[in-house]
Amino acid sequence: MSAKGLFISFEGIDGSGKSTQVGRLADALRARGHDVIVTREPGGSDGAEEIRALVLQGDPDRWSAETELLLFTAARRDHLERLIRPALAQGKIVICDRFADSTRMYQGLSRGNLRATVDQLHNLMIGVEPDLTLLIDMDPAKGLARAKGRQGAEERFEDFGADLQEAMRAGFLDLAAEYADRFVVIDGARDMDAVARDILEAVGQRLDQSGAAP
Ligand code: ADP
Ligand code: TYD
Repeated sequence: MSAKGLFISFEGIDGSGKSTQVGRLADALRARGHDVIVTREPGGSDGAEEIRALVLQGDPDRWSAETELLLFTAARRDHLERLIRPALAQGKIVICDRFADSTRMYQGLSRGNLRATVDQLHNLMIGVEPDLTLLIDMDPAKGLARAKGRQGAEERFEDFGADLQEAMRAGFLDLAAEYADRFVVIDGARDMDAVARDILEAVGQRLDQSGAAP
């Protein structure tokens, strides 16, 4: 989507190591002289962070499936307008912990099949995809065991049953095949250094292709 900068998203089930690897990648790119913005969804701008609290805290049944989809999309639109687009226009590398593929999976799959609505709303209100999406793939049972180690106020989507977790994993792999030009699948069930090495290699290749400076 970007004329000058590079837009990278991380995707995968909860606990797959996205946040960890976002930080590692940002450090590695900064050490090479790149100007990097790290952000996340839902959130990443003031308004979107307020919406994040609405969707991730409190009673999970507070919103209908459709209202929840609208809230995630509203947060993304604000994030795109206020942070992502301006940063890319300034030639920065934007690394985002989750983007629209999460909505395709979580809102598209978890409360009935809403994928067509998700795609329509995306086309209408967002309309852009990352230049590169790193899917950290792993057995959901392992990811969940990692994620459960964290506790916080946010009512996450981690209490999905095992079947739904497996469906999400398969769904992410299907997305990687559907959008093969921008996805790279990374085996996340390894030590952090090995995962980080593969990610840096994939990003390096994409930077070489795009001819991005430092
Ligand atoms: P996510 O953002 O995908 O939910 P996190 O990066 O927060 O995942 O990782 C979840 C937990 O697992 C954290 O406690 C983190 O330190 C740990 N973790 C991340 N990557 C690995 C790895 N490759 N091996 C073992 N533990 C990991
Ligand atoms: P995140 O903070 O990335 O959680 P984790 O570190 O556990 O992966 O995201 C919070 C939750 O929001 C996560 O369970 C996935 C969910 N989510 C959606 O349901 N739809 C979306 O569009 C996004 C971006 C996240």
